[in-house]
Amino acid sequence: MKRILLIVGGGIAAYKACELVRLCRKAGIGVTCVLTEGGQHFVTPMTLAALSENQVYTTLWDLKDEAEMGHIQLSRQADLVVVAPATADLLARMAGGIASDLATTLLLATDKPVLAAPAMNVRMWSHAATRRNVAQLRADGVTVLEPDEGPMACGEYGPGRLPEPEAILAAIQQALSPVEQRLVGKHVLVAAGPTHEPIDPVRYIANRSSGKQGFAIAGALAALGARVTLVAGPVTLPTPAGVTRIDVETAREMAATVDAALPADAAIMVAAVADWRVEPAAQKLKKGDAAPLLHLAQNPDILAGVAQGLRRPRLVVGFAAETERVIEHAVAKRTRKNADWIVANDVSGDVMGGEANAVHLVTAQGVESWERASKVDVARRLAERIADAL
Ligand code: CTP
Repeated sequence: MKRILLIVGGGIAAYKACELVRLCRKAGIGVTCVLTEGGQHFVTPMTLAALSENQVYTTLWDLKDEAEMGHIQLSRQADLVVVAPATADLLARMAGGIASDLATTLLLATDKPVLAAPAMNVRMWSHAATRRNVAQLRADGVTVLEPDEGPMACGEYGPGRLPEPEAILAAIQQALSPVEQRLVGKHVLVAAGPTHEPIDPVRYIANRSSGKQGFAIAGALAALGARVTLVAGPVTLPTPAGVTRIDVETAREMAATVDAALPADAAIMVAAVADWRVEPAAQKLKKGDAAPLLHLAQNPDILAGVAQGLRRPRLVVGFAAETERVIEHAVAKRTRKNADWIVANDVSGDVMGGEANAVHLVTAQGVESWERASKVDVARRLAERIADAL
């Protein structure tokens, strides 16, 4: 079993460390927690002990047997040291090589890779001192994740939120079993999620796409070292580690954003793009005002536009969500849209929004039917195939 040493710093995001411990245990990763003094103001050692099913360490002086279980030992028996949340203070002490408590002593004594997930106020994150410390840590080989952007506990808005526990887990898994970086130097464009086509200021046309498959593909490609631009329709999923995400709302916005992101070595169009739009009413429509809905206009076909355009990526992959004659439709779609591959899936069941997917990969060589697997596993397999093709 792989093991991590999790250092929980003193910030409001410390509560998310509890969820991270739970996810790690569920994923079969052993966790030993170290709680800083600040961290103890937000979560208790008891909570982390219960979730990690392991003793929690809080001070340099509570290690029972210094000869057997000294801090050097503690810092080295894990495969990876994770700091989450990494506060501005912890990052500063790490960058400066200061060993003023158990956490920073372990960080200085370890011979294992270190991954830090920062969380702090937006101004603290953008402060020159923090910028300098993060740059120094990265130069020293520490993996410092980018914080998420959004509303903060302190009432401000911006980058500084702890990445979602799922994203931290993905980064941990990657660090624990590094995959061969086969896509370094390649730029891959992924479009994912649904689009929303406004009807009036309060209504829109949508579909059941969850974005999960596309996000998993973006994450799997980034894990292989690709530079990934993820053009995402309106979904609330966490951004996979190492992925540059651009949020869009409508099909036309998605088309323009995809176009602006070219050139790319590959484009993977997983998005469930709305085929139609209406001219949105300026004011909220009343019950009797259904007229605009009768004037559906065709949206641009983004996949066909990319596959038939002048800056066509070397590999263009489309998806085909079908409820009947899945393979037949996909084969026709591949030729019609000038795509290299179509990944076809039967969405007559629970696939849209679900966690698993059974797909058929349609290429010029024929059709491969893959056994039903989790969307994450489908993504990993597809990313490997993309790496083979580039
Ligand atoms: N797609 C796109 N732009 C659109 C519609 C679809 O880029 N306006 C892409 C999707 O991202 C997907 C592929 O085309 O990769 C298949 O989408 P689908 O809606 O199934 O295909 P359609 O061309 O709309 O075919 P049909 O109407 O027969 O379903």
